[in-house]
Amino acid sequence: MMILAPSMLSADFKVLGEELKTIEDNGAKYVHYDVMDGMFVPSLSFGPAILQSIRPASNLVHDVHLMIEEPIRYIEPFAKASADIITVHLEACEDLDATIAKIKEYGCKVGVSIKPATPVSALEPYVEKIDMILIMSVEPGFGGQKFMPVALEKIAEAKAMVDAKGLNIDIQVDGGIYTHNVEDVIKAGANIIVAGSAVFNGDTEANTKAMMEILNRYE
Ligand code: DX5
Ligand code: ZN
Repeated sequence: MMILAPSMLSADFKVLGEELKTIEDNGAKYVHYDVMDGMFVPSLSFGPAILQSIRPASNLVHDVHLMIEEPIRYIEPFAKASADIITVHLEACEDLDATIAKIKEYGCKVGVSIKPATPVSALEPYVEKIDMILIMSVEPGFGGQKFMPVALEKIAEAKAMVDAKGLNIDIQVDGGIYTHNVEDVIKAGANIIVAGSAVFNGDTEANTKAMMEILNRYE
């Protein structure tokens, strides 16, 4: 099953509860929660308190993408704020094994993400220990950027690596995905699709339906 994970970064915050209900009612299964620290990426976004407060607004899986330096420092507060999946950046962790172990200790699923310039091979020592790979298709930091085609090769490479090891882990892709290119990332091997602008800019209901109509064509 293909999963749509709308990125809350582009939502209308004055009606956030309604936005979450709209995406859920129209087929999204996750809400992707982009955390930025002004260090690992230039922007600042939101922390665990807002995550905690949106929990009752939906039954969506809370998919937390930590774009922060040394995310091991913040696993506990995000887990306690009801994160279901916590994704960290390989580039941001001095000890990725310890970070993965800590996410598991708190009962969350583990994602590891790589930026566009980081090779897929860097993930190899960790894939057996994680639930999801996140391939960034833009430089992390801002919504609304243009999709980088290098991500297609990287998704295919990640999928081949996972299949060769007989693993069944998710491959998520994030950045610059719209109805016109979502099929390219699905065909390359991604099964969890993050989309911010494509879902929340304009009519959230119509946008979610349009994305889901495409995702539902795939197994
Ligand atoms: C980028 C974030 C993305 C981004 C996606 O740093 O991780 O989740 O908000 O937004 P769009 O779909 O607008 O590229
Ligand atoms: Zn993200």
